[in-house]
Amino acid sequence: MNDVRPVSLERIDNKDKALEFIEKAVKEIQDEVGNNKVLLALSGGVDSSVCAALLIKAIGKNLICVHVNHGLLRKDESKQVIDTFKNELNANLIYIDAQDRFLDKLKGVKEPETKRKIIGKEFIDVFAEEARKLDGIKYLGQGTIYPDILESKGIKAHHNVGGLPEDLNFSLIEPIKYLYKDEVRQIGLALGLPYKMVYRQPFPGPGLGVRCVGAITKERLEIVRETDAILRDEFEKNGLDKVFWQYFTIVPDYKSVGIKDNKRTEEYFVVIRAIDSVDATSASTPEIPHAILTKIRDRMLKEVNGINRVLVDISPKPPATIEWE
Ligand code: XMP
Repeated sequence: MNDVRPVSLERIDNKDKALEFIEKAVKEIQDEVGNNKVLLALSGGVDSSVCAALLIKAIGKNLICVHVNHGLLRKDESKQVIDTFKNELNANLIYIDAQDRFLDKLKGVKEPETKRKIIGKEFIDVFAEEARKLDGIKYLGQGTIYPDILESKGIKAHHNVGGLPEDLNFSLIEPIKYLYKDEVRQIGLALGLPYKMVYRQPFPGPGLGVRCVGAITKERLEIVRETDAILRDEFEKNGLDKVFWQYFTIVPDYKSVGIKDNKRTEEYFVVIRAIDSVDATSASTPEIPHAILTKIRDRMLKEVNGINRVLVDISPKPPATIEWE
């Protein structure tokens, strides 16, 4: 397989070029796939979403999207995927609720890389089980993009659906594999995907699992999910979503002493992490205006149960990484 971007591929930096690429890609997909079916794991991330939208344009219902809810997604994320793809784009979409299954496997597991590996393996298992149930699938669609090919060796075990069992002998179809992220976004917009989906901040495959530091529990996972939703809401309302590259919350497995209704408490704390970056290899922490921070703190302490403190992580990368695990 040729993994070098063709020199004939011009940079896609406007709508006309995006439309031109789409027209060509649709034809190439149709020529290759014919009347066969293509299976695709649709996480709701930018790459898999754009890949899915392109495949839908090319082969319609012959694309079967599988969306696995592993329980580590952000608030309402699965709902948004269903709204956009099933309701708006009329996609052939299978939704799998695997929340309990993932949580069971992760029970008591503290070590970050082990957590990542379990999530990655379980994801492949769930996806492969679903694939076996379906008949006559010849192709596996993947939203691989050019930086994935260039940087396939990482420090952490980043996962995709690469490691499917050999009996599932699919041919790969990767229609956006020569594109850079900004080009993938141009294509997504030209295909009519919502701006919010196309300009979504990066979100790790293991999801909130690496932000619920240590052994994952339902209680702390809910705290991560709810505080993340508040943070995103306030960042969007105050225009900070345009300033920061990535922002989220972390909940370590540690309780500190507090006071509520004149009684001593021992509750978890939430860490806010908001960074700016170009390509995630380094990161800085621009200032969050104090008034906005205070508002976020107040909302978190009022609206989310089980916490008594809110902290801000101002560590650049290096020496810190963006995620805590
Ligand atoms: P770190 O923590 O290594 O993160 O500074 C760099 C960027 O990568 C994201 N990240 C991941 N993405 N699977 C992914 O798909 C992963 O396992 C993973 N770990 C980190 C992180 O959110 C940041 O944008």
